[in-house]
Amino acid sequence: MSNILQLKNKENLLEKFLETRNRTLDLVKTLEKDDFVVQTAVFMSPPKWHVGHVSWIYEAIMSKINKNYEFYSKEFSEYLNSYYQQFGVPQDKGLRGIVSRPTTEEIFQYFEIINERVTDFIKNSEFNSDELKLIIMGFNHECQHQELLVYDLQHLLAEQYKPINKNPIEVNQQITNKSISIKGGIFELGYNGEEFCYDIELPSHKVFLNDFKIDKYPVTNSEFLKFMKDGGYEDYKYWLSDGWEKVKENNWKSPMYWEKIGDEWHVRDFLGIRKINPNEPVCHVSYYEADAYCKWAGKRLPTEAEWEKAALWDEKLQKKFIFPWGDSEPTSENSNLLESYHWGCTNLGNFPKGSSPSGCEHMIGDVWEWTSSEFIGYPGFKTGFDEYNDKWFSNQKVLRGGSFGTPKMSIRGSYRNFFRLDERWLFSGFRCAEDV
Ligand SMILES: [Fe+2]
Repeated sequence: MSNILQLKNKENLLEKFLETRNRTLDLVKTLEKDDFVVQTAVFMSPPKWHVGHVSWIYEAIMSKINKNYEFYSKEFSEYLNSYYQQFGVPQDKGLRGIVSRPTTEEIFQYFEIINERVTDFIKNSEFNSDELKLIIMGFNHECQHQELLVYDLQHLLAEQYKPINKNPIEVNQQITNKSISIKGGIFELGYNGEEFCYDIELPSHKVFLNDFKIDKYPVTNSEFLKFMKDGGYEDYKYWLSDGWEKVKENNWKSPMYWEKIGDEWHVRDFLGIRKINPNEPVCHVSYYEADAYCKWAGKRLPTEAEWEKAALWDEKLQKKFIFPWGDSEPTSENSNLLESYHWGCTNLGNFPKGSSPSGCEHMIGDVWEWTSSEFIGYPGFKTGFDEYNDKWFSNQKVLRGGSFGTPKMSIRGSYRNFFRLDERWLFSGFRCAEDV
């Protein structure tokens, strides 16, 4: 992880910037020209748009720091502005795929121009700590879009995508899930470290938790198949009313990307069209499906505070860490994040080194985990960037932990992701909790 103090050193800041920019380029290096402009669904964006948008946000950031900053082009800004009303009227998200100009080539030229502008900006300016945080936010924003780009590549190409790095997944023995008891009491929720975090992870504040139980692993495909075979998708009694409407409206019968071939369920993803692996966490489920499963199983989703305590709190040391394994940055030994380049979920049980002090595994990486918590600001919330996170404080749920598409520099135990309750093109799963 990049320590803010270390990043004050301009060389480190520039190195981190270019490392982030190169990862974006690596993700799209093997795409064909035709792949760049296609939008296969309203919830995804064409790769061309991501490449341009992650560059444009640095212009938005530079304009906040230097009031005289002039944007590269009005036309580019209109196309590449995602949802920031403060920078003009953004183009309709669902229409990003019908725009042929700026061309892909022009977007790549723009990418390089922004690299030069940001490099000069960093080299030639002095920043206070808030300004520095904004620049580092730009890197983190690009990481978020790298992950979104991976979701979109799954939707656009799945097994036809050829990553430049790909590492095999170790197949493990079948594991059995079990439930772990966590002591309640006062818990300090939110980020308590000294490095970069988003405004929504702050301020760290006290909450009260009852004693609870949480599963060692996220819900597996084999567990989820039991729910399906038991008629989970056919019975209203497990579903929230809005969820049941979505089941009927969209004819949901399984997680997204699952296909029944003959009598057997298969998934189509980066690894091919393959039989469901019982030992992977279930992926591509909405909040509604996670909630319905829990109801069927006689359990519930954890709140985000319960999740965070199970992930980061060491009862013996009476100390909270940044990650389940301690304060050191993630490695491919303790978690499955983007740079592991597995391009899929690993087998549960593969990361004993990633265990939390309480004994929960796979809390960082593989799948984002739905929690029952509404996405709202913590008490005392102060915006770090208007419209970035704070305008989404309604009708979304918090997910925790990162996925196999999350770049490692951008995740930590206190990170709060958020999506609407019916979204499932992200790498989303869940783990169950119970009252005691
Ligand atoms: Fe964005």
